[in-house]
Amino acid sequence: RWVAVLAGGLSHERDVSLRSGRRVSAALRQSGVAVEEWDADAGLLPKLREHRPDAVVIALHGGEGENGSIQTILELLGIPYVGTDAGTCRRAWDKPTAKAELRRAGVLTPDWVVLPQSAFRELGAQPVLDAMVERLGLPMMLKPDQGGSALGAQVVRSAAELPTAMVGSLAYSDAVLAEQFIDGVEVAVTVVDGPGGPEALPAVEIAPASGVYDYTARYTAGLTTFHTPARLDDATAAKVAELAVSAHRLLGLRDVSRTDAVVSATGEVYFIEVNLSPGLTETSLLPMAAEAAGRSLGSIYAGLVDRAIA
Ligand code: DAL
Ligand code: MG
Repeated sequence: RWVAVLAGGLSHERDVSLRSGRRVSAALRQSGVAVEEWDADAGLLPKLREHRPDAVVIALHGGEGENGSIQTILELLGIPYVGTDAGTCRRAWDKPTAKAELRRAGVLTPDWVVLPQSAFRELGAQPVLDAMVERLGLPMMLKPDQGGSALGAQVVRSAAELPTAMVGSLAYSDAVLAEQFIDGVEVAVTVVDGPGGPEALPAVEIAPASGVYDYTARYTAGLTTFHTPARLDDATAAKVAELAVSAHRLLGLRDVSRTDAVVSATGEVYFIEVNLSPGLTETSLLPMAAEAAGRSLGSIYAGLVDRAIA
């Protein structure tokens, strides 16, 4: 029995994915699983058909790795894989869609608007920017409606910064998700499916030295301090875990997910987003949560491979 770990790919998160792929491959081997590491390039489909791994672990981030494309190919070929099914990926990968589904279910999430690039052409930039500030206040968060690793995401503190920030977010997607900014503690909660259903690992609290958890703060060792488990009182820690398990269940996610949330100064827990292919690099959150739970990354993913094949 052997597993293909897919990494690389064509998204902006290619470098992150290569690091995730190396890490999870090594962890699986340590747990006794035979692994081949494949770059998800144009030759992937013929390679999958020819070699037919017993299961696939998707260590791709962004674009095709999380939007259902790779999942569709694997379903087409009948090859089991770890992670959420193609149709659900398509919905949950879109940040506004996930927020809307969860808000309908009563989950707290920052107020937001989605601004397609065309809105600016058709309605004129300044009136749209003015309306955004009126609706969401300042500071506000801007991010591409689809994407990861905080690429194109920014905190906008004044109306004067807004036009440049919009351009920065639109560089990564055709639409921008503008959100009310919630001042508070950022936490990330990994959820893993087990025999008893989805289970939350300890929350990781994120404290970037610069104050902003951007791409550099994510992937440069030492630029962010992590507290695992997060320094929350028991009731808040329970709320945060419950939020992540609810998001996993309500969105219909499978095997593994990571929910990012903010705990406000008044103790309210806001859903920010869910990650369908959580980072597995040396500075990523899921491996820290696993360690705090006393579980190895290899045993978690080996267990998920077993579930996928079963
Ligand atoms: N998008 C990155 C890989 C993460 O969520 O960890
Ligand atoms: Mg993300």
